[in-house]
Amino acid sequence: NIEARVDSVFQLMTLDEKIGQMNQYNGFWEITGPVPKEGQAAMKYENLKKGLVGSMLNVKGAKEVYALQKIAVEETRLGIPLLFGFDVIHGYKTISPIPLAEAASWDIEAIQKSAEIAAEEAAAVGINWTFAPMVDISRDARWGRVMEGAGEDPYLGSKIAEARIKGFQGTDLTSKKTVLACAKHFAGYGFAESGRDYNTVDVSEATLQNIILPPFKASVDVGVKTFMNSFNELNGVPATGNNYLQREILKKEWQFDGFIVSDWGSINEMIAHGYAKDSKEAAEIAINAGSDMDMESYAYIDHLKILIKEGKVEEKQIDDAVKRILRVKFELGLFDDPYKYCDEVYEEATVGKKEFHEGVLDIAKKSIVLLKNENKLLPLPKSGKKIALIGALASDKTSPLGSWRIGADDESAISVLEGMKQYKDNQLVYAKGTDVAIGRTQFMWETKINETDSSGFNEAITIAKQADIVVMVLGEHGLQSGEGRSRTDLGLPGLQQQLLEAVYKVNKNIVLVLNNGRPLAIPWAKENIPSILEAWHLGTQSGNAIAEVLYGDYNPSGKLPMTFPKSVGQVPIYYNYKNTGRPTMNEPESVFWSHYIDEENTPLFAFGFGLSYSKFQYSNLKLDKTSVTNNEKIKVTITLKNNSSLKGKEVVQLYIRDLVASVTRPVKELKDFKMVELAANETKEITFLIDEKMLAFYSGNSKWETEPGGFKVFIGGSSDKTLESNFKFVKK
Ligand code: IFM
Repeated sequence: NIEARVDSVFQLMTLDEKIGQMNQYNGFWEITGPVPKEGQAAMKYENLKKGLVGSMLNVKGAKEVYALQKIAVEETRLGIPLLFGFDVIHGYKTISPIPLAEAASWDIEAIQKSAEIAAEEAAAVGINWTFAPMVDISRDARWGRVMEGAGEDPYLGSKIAEARIKGFQGTDLTSKKTVLACAKHFAGYGFAESGRDYNTVDVSEATLQNIILPPFKASVDVGVKTFMNSFNELNGVPATGNNYLQREILKKEWQFDGFIVSDWGSINEMIAHGYAKDSKEAAEIAINAGSDMDMESYAYIDHLKILIKEGKVEEKQIDDAVKRILRVKFELGLFDDPYKYCDEVYEEATVGKKEFHEGVLDIAKKSIVLLKNENKLLPLPKSGKKIALIGALASDKTSPLGSWRIGADDESAISVLEGMKQYKDNQLVYAKGTDVAIGRTQFMWETKINETDSSGFNEAITIAKQADIVVMVLGEHGLQSGEGRSRTDLGLPGLQQQLLEAVYKVNKNIVLVLNNGRPLAIPWAKENIPSILEAWHLGTQSGNAIAEVLYGDYNPSGKLPMTFPKSVGQVPIYYNYKNTGRPTMNEPESVFWSHYIDEENTPLFAFGFGLSYSKFQYSNLKLDKTSVTNNEKIKVTITLKNNSSLKGKEVVQLYIRDLVASVTRPVKELKDFKMVELAANETKEITFLIDEKMLAFYSGNSKWETEPGGFKVFIGGSSDKTLESNFKFVKK
């Protein structure tokens, strides 16, 4: 049994070796945090040989991993194998849509499948641990890392966290096709003030418990093996040094038996936070608060031993951390076969497999959201038309890979231009129009693109004039969202808005294909452009997926996992807001209600919104009882009709509102959803069950419970368009 095996190794370990297991070094190629100081490579090799390293990150390739693993296994006293971590966020080399896009599919099976593909490919290049999924809930589109999460909702976020973890870890961690998952960033990172990355987080206990923590709890329940803590402080205490989060909640209350890795340098960052006076004190705080492994702070390896000697850290804290790390290594099967991920022949045969490409194409199509389709401009006719394709992003083969795809090759995505060219019976003409302005990025530190260059406008206008239909691919470059890429402007970067308006003047038949890693504020486009397709950053098969949807070979079914604002001033904007004491005033002239004088309260596109080429109609919401007690269920049904001659899929969403409670509750909360496929003109009755668990929340008594009283249930195809009814919960 694993505990006995852990113990058998543990008993042999010196204190130095134990501390070594808690030490993680970056490899020497990719940098996913601030650049380490010169000359550290030699020190890392030395420590590796002495058995003072437990894990490496950013080492890739079966050969490279083998070389380092060999040192750990064959040259150190105890031969404890290393963990190799890597940010396999949405694929390793064969890239699937960014996680926010996948969340828009609401297709839990497809999301799990996508993680399975990522795991299999990553494991083939020697990686045995991914720093994913990021399960941070965020309501702030300014924050660049929303691209890496599942959006704003804790229920959808929890379901997706479960799916991704199941996909990465599989049912057998010792298999050659699975990797360890890591739920991150614990916790609150998505609530960075003003959307600025790494910024202060100050939230109530109710928000922490009801909104931020559920996907983390779901991750533990589904068996995630590791957690990563977070750069931010939470209510005055940096997450890395947060005893309440790590020891009280995660390890004690939730009984998490895996280990927690710090984020890159986050132990030492507690000095800048003003929470530790130096690296030694930072190490003391972090270990006492429950951080088990130090990523790139060198604080544990430098200071833990002396801290124990001085009695500032108890050895049992080290023992606990080391046992957690060893346990995971055993569960992964590393002690039985440390080289199982290091087979170059298998690597060659596995990376970029045809099945992977088919899989990422499938999820890419499912991630697309149809936001507007007036006059049935979409799907495009397949022949006899002159189509003008405009926009730098339309021909870009790197941008669709999105942010966080460090294993992929630049230029390896199918562009929209390539995808559309396959539909040969139309005449396709392309013009760039203008470049997409990009600033400092992780992979292109000094990309010089003139964001004010309009010299390509004329060519774009000329081809638009001559075309029957114009397809414009506009939005953010794939590297304009992600870590360290917060924005204060949520419009189309550079001169793209001007380009859109200039083209509109000569041809109004425009299909706007959006590429973006976050919700955008594009009210002019919504008002004027007849068809808008949200195509995010869809990965390697992006252009093929977009072309299939444009031409109707795939009927879109995605729904937004995050609210799109009308203007940046509305942010944070989210569907599960609370009502305020003055939600609306009856007198239209009154200024004394919760509103803006220069903008509406309603979003541009609501959470859960998304159209289809089919037309779905909801009617007949019925409850089998109007009052429910513990251990009972209410059966809720709705009639869904496909009022079109096209087969299509619809995500039917169920929301609940607790009308009066010990702490105020949101106007609506997603509690269930079903993906339903309907043939042309088909009608189906869709059933949901409401039980007590769905009504529970973190109450005024500081615990999860269900309070008696009145509730509303809402069902619809978008959070802002629902049918509703009432029921009561009676406590026994
Ligand atoms: O996994 C990431 C984390 O999300 C941000 N900082 C760096 C880590 C390792 O690359």
